[in-house]
Amino acid sequence: MGGEEEGVIEDREKWNQRYLAEEYPQHPSRIVQEYALLAPGGKALDLACGNGRNSVFLAHHGFRVDAVDISDVGLSRFSDQSPEIFPICMDLDRFDIPEKKYAIILNIRYLSRRLFPYIRDGLMPGGILIFETYMEGEPDEDDPTPSCRDYLLRENELLHAFLRLRIIYYREYKGESRKGRSHIASLVAQRIP
Ligand SMILES: C[S@@+](CC[C@H](N)C(=O)[O-])C[C@H]1O[C@@H](n2cnc3c(N)ncnc32)[C@H](O)[C@@H]1O
Repeated sequence: MGGEEEGVIEDREKWNQRYLAEEYPQHPSRIVQEYALLAPGGKALDLACGNGRNSVFLAHHGFRVDAVDISDVGLSRFSDQSPEIFPICMDLDRFDIPEKKYAIILNIRYLSRRLFPYIRDGLMPGGILIFETYMEGEPDEDDPTPSCRDYLLRENELLHAFLRLRIIYYREYKGESRKGRSHIASLVAQRIP
């Protein structure tokens, strides 16, 4: 087996173990609840969908959802909750998003910079992007073990990455997360029709 293939299996195993051993939030993200319905109806893409809390919300609001994650355990937690959810068990390092296909793309608590241009181009005109994930920040007593820098946004990075879209909302702040208080960046943007 090649090193790349082994890496995928390791990542899948790691996330499967987490979903078996730990509790993850079940409620949809607040930013998704607040902004998803700005999107024209149609197809949705939930990148690194995890236990599907946001995919299920979108399906219940009339979207047909492609829900992608490397963890089959995460996907198994929700894929039978709606016939409008299409689970895709795949490594996002190898996933290419088709152009102009999606009315809405979610990227919540996950970061792959390689995907930025695919995300932009994957939106149909008028389509909505909701992106929220962790940023670099000074460690503190609530969050003493910062993750690898590869998985953390820098200041203003998310804003700059999507300036070709119409920015509807952008904020960098310190908010609650599973890990305590974390630095988070949130963006909502629309592909100009
Ligand atoms: C912190 S969880 C966020 C899940 C979900 N977006 C949410 O907000 O509830 C990160 C997710 O990224 C997935 N993931 C990590 N690396 C991945 C990869 N290379 N390809 C696809 N999914 C990946 C994990 O399996 C996990 O479900």
